[in-house]
Amino acid sequence: MTRMSYPADLYGRRDRDRFWVAVNTFFTSVQRVRMLRSPVLPPVREVDRSADLVVRSVRKVAEDVVALTLAAPDGGVLPAWHPGCHLDLHLPSGRRRQYSLCGDPSDRRTYRIAVRRLPDGGGGSVEIHDEVTEGDVLKIQGPRNAFPLIPRDRYLFIAGGIGITPILPMVQAAHRAGADWRLIYTGRTRETLPFLDELAGLPSARITIRTDDTDGIPTSADLLADATPGTAVHVCGPAPMIDTIRAAFPSDATLHYERFAPAPVTNGHPFEVELKRSGRVLQVPPTRSALDVIKEEQPDVAYSCRQGFCGTCKVSVLSGDVDQRAPSDPPGDDTMLICVSRATKGRLTLDL
Ligand code: FES
Repeated sequence: MTRMSYPADLYGRRDRDRFWVAVNTFFTSVQRVRMLRSPVLPPVREVDRSADLVVRSVRKVAEDVVALTLAAPDGGVLPAWHPGCHLDLHLPSGRRRQYSLCGDPSDRRTYRIAVRRLPDGGGGSVEIHDEVTEGDVLKIQGPRNAFPLIPRDRYLFIAGGIGITPILPMVQAAHRAGADWRLIYTGRTRETLPFLDELAGLPSARITIRTDDTDGIPTSADLLADATPGTAVHVCGPAPMIDTIRAAFPSDATLHYERFAPAPVTNGHPFEVELKRSGRVLQVPPTRSALDVIKEEQPDVAYSCRQGFCGTCKVSVLSGDVDQRAPSDPPGDDTMLICVSRATKGRLTLDL
């Protein structure tokens, strides 16, 4: 039977099934990219800081979204953070995932993150929803910031769904600083939008809540109406939304965004990876990453951000020439980040 194809909407959805596939890909974990009118990924300052934190509370904050409050076991002071920071969370299964801090930076004794449950994701969100409970101890690394709030007098913040997590502290900071700011917060329904109660404490005239069920899918014009000259626009949400905004972005404002999904592979070409330990040889097509292909063969392969900055997926290269595509993956190194880097040609043999 031929399946009917529908035009993709702003969120990249073609139909219900593909919607969930898209959600799966962009909400699997927290993944960071900042763009300052440059396609080059900026280096992220590494923070050599890990700690075991206790889960103080797990609270439902929207449909399929829970917020976790984390604290030091002794209730002590935690490292400071700024809006846009995230934590690397080491889950009991060994998975490592990244989540934006979405609490109050002035609260030095707790961190808060929020996680949307994605049944078809990489398993991290489901593990948190189904298995992490109050009293559990989780190892974290960070906080670190790949999506800083740029100092400016005028802001437009755009959040798509769970993308509100880094944006919420930014909005609150901009408001405290007396900046001229606007927030557009989009999602499928109000029930899916976390932290509406906290936004209710801010001037409602500055906030636009748009939900697809009542307002329809927003266009780039809807989202960028307030991107006036000199405005710093900070966006976090689904990759298709970010791509739509980028395509229509005015030249006299500045765009800073955070993806929840890897950017599409550009200038890709096919190559092979040989997994040394199994001897399997896999074909990596031009439009996919080595990680995506290897993950099908080895579901437990380590990864987190899928955008080349966290280092989780780094593997040793035993032979072959690597097209290094991440700033933290220096040319000449005999390792590669399999989420972004590729072969220049032919075959790579990896220590996997
Ligand atoms: S998964 Fe983060 S660098 Fe590859």
